Amino acid sequence: MTIHVLDDNTINKIAAGEVVERPASVIKELIENAMDAGATRIEVEIMAGGTSFMRVTDNGRGMSAEDAHLAILRHATSKIREVGDLNTIGTLGFRGEALPTIASVSRFTLLTRREGDDLGTRVTITGGREPDFIEAGCNIGTTVKVEDLFFNTPARKKFLKTNHTEGARINDFIVKLALSRPDIEFHFINNNKMSVVTPGTGNLYDTIQAIYGDKTADSLLGLTLEDEDIKISGYITKPSMLKSSRAWQTYIVNSRIIQNRAIAKAIDNAYKSLIPKSGFPLAVLCIEVPQRTIDVNVHPQKSELKFEDESRIFKAVYKAVLDAIRPAGRGLGEVAAVVEKPEQHVTMEPMQFVPATEPLAEPIIPQWPQASSAQAAAASPIGAQSSLRPSTRPCTARHRPPHLRWPASLMHKRVCAASARPLLLCTISMRLIPCWKAR
Ligand SMILES: Nc1ncnc2c1ncn2[C@@H]1O[C@H](COP(=O)(O)OP(=O)(O)OP(=O)(O)O)[C@@H](O)[C@H]1O
Ligand SMILES: [Mg+2]
Repeated sequence: MTIHVLDDNTINKIAAGEVVERPASVIKELIENAMDAGATRIEVEIMAGGTSFMRVTDNGRGMSAEDAHLAILRHATSKIREVGDLNTIGTLGFRGEALPTIASVSRFTLLTRREGDDLGTRVTITGGREPDFIEAGCNIGTTVKVEDLFFNTPARKKFLKTNHTEGARINDFIVKLALSRPDIEFHFINNNKMSVVTPGTGNLYDTIQAIYGDKTADSLLGLTLEDEDIKISGYITKPSMLKSSRAWQTYIVNSRIIQNRAIAKAIDNAYKSLIPKSGFPLAVLCIEVPQRTIDVNVHPQKSELKFEDESRIFKAVYKAVLDAIRPAGRGLGEVAAVVEKPEQHVTMEPMQFVPATEPLAEPIIPQWPQASSAQAAAASPIGAQSSLRPSTRPCTARHRPPHLRWPASLMHKRVCAASARPLLLCTISMRLIPCWKAR
C-alpha cells in the first residue's frame, strides 16, 4: 500500500461531510459570514427546502477581487492569523472552510463588491471544479447562491429528509440567528413566501415579538444576572406558557448560538422547583463570559463550545431563571397566581422547528379544569404546586390530545354501536310489551 496526498477537491468533499450536513448547515455558514462582514440586513431565500436553491444576500463590507479569489480556497480566512487568536476571537467563523466545502458539493455562485469599487466580482464553481472569475456589476455586499446541493454526492443526498423538514430546519436556524443579533434585519423567503421578518431595531423583545407573535411576547419575563465575570440577559416565558419541546429555547454565548445540556438542565431545574414538570418554557438566553474561559474550536459545525467551569454557568442560569419566575419577595402562592391557566402544549413528535408565527405549531390545547390558582394555593398544603397539577378528571374527546383520541377505524365502530343502541332498545321493548300485557 502506497501513501499519497489527497487532491484539494477530494479533501473538500470529505470536509463537507462534517461542515455541510444538510441545507440548514449551508444557510448557517452563509449567515454567519454575513454577520462577520458587518451586515445590517440579511435576506435569505430558499426553494424546495434548500435542496434546489438557496440564496443569502447581505449588505456587509463585501470583498475585493483578490479576496474573492482567496475566499474559496481551503483554510483561507481573514478572521485569525494564528491559533492564539482563538482566545480573543470576536467573529463566528475562524476555520476558513465553509465556502470551499459548500462549493465542492453544489453549483456555487458568489457575487461581491466593496464600497468604493466600481465593479464587483462573480465567482462560479460547479462541484468543486476550477472556479470561474469575472467582473460584474452588483450592489455593495455579498450574495451567495447555492444550487443543487449534493448533486455530485448522491450518497449524502439520500440522507436528507423531506423538503418540508429541511425547510423547517432552515427556518429554525434563521430564527435562532436572528434572536442572537436583534440589530440585524432578517428576511426569510421560503418557496416565495415571506416566513420570518425581524425589525433590526437592536431590541431583543421586538425581535421575539416579530418572530413568535404578540401572545408569546406578552408572556415574557425579563431575566438578568451579573456575576463577577458572567453576564446573563434575555427572556423566558411565564410558567403559564409552556411549550412541548426545547426547540423553543435559544442559548447565545458570546454571540454564538450553541447547544448545551447544562444550560438546558438549569432551566428545567429552576422551573421544576416551582411547578411540576409538564413542558418547557420558551427562552432566549444571552450569556457573556470572558472569551478566555471558553473554547470555541470543539465542534465541526461550531454548534457547541467548552466552558472552563460549566458548573458556574449552570448555577448562574439556574439563579437567573429562578429570579425571573419568582421575583424577590414573592412567595410560591404569588407565583401560582400568575399561573392562572397553564397551557399544556401536547405534541406526539418532538418539534423540529420554531415557526415564524405563533399559531402555526400550536398543537391541541386541552384546557385542564382547575380552580383559581390563588384559591388552590391557599387550600393546598404545598401551595402553588397543587394548583398547577392537571385535574385527573378525564377530558372529553374534543379536548383529548391526539394520542388519546380514537383511531378513525375504531371511531367508526363506536359511531355504529352508538346508532345501533336505540334500535336494540326498541326491539327489546317490542318483545317485552306483549309479554307484560299477557301477564
Ligand atoms: N458574506 C461575506 N462578506 C464578506 N466577506 C466574506 C463573506 N463570506 C466570506 N467572506 C470572506 O471569505 C473568507 C472565507 O469564508 P469562510 O466562510 O470559508 O471561512 P471563515 O468564515 O473565515 O471560517 P469558517 O469556515 O469557520 O466559517 C472569510 O474569512 C471572509 O474574509
Ligand atoms: Mg465562515
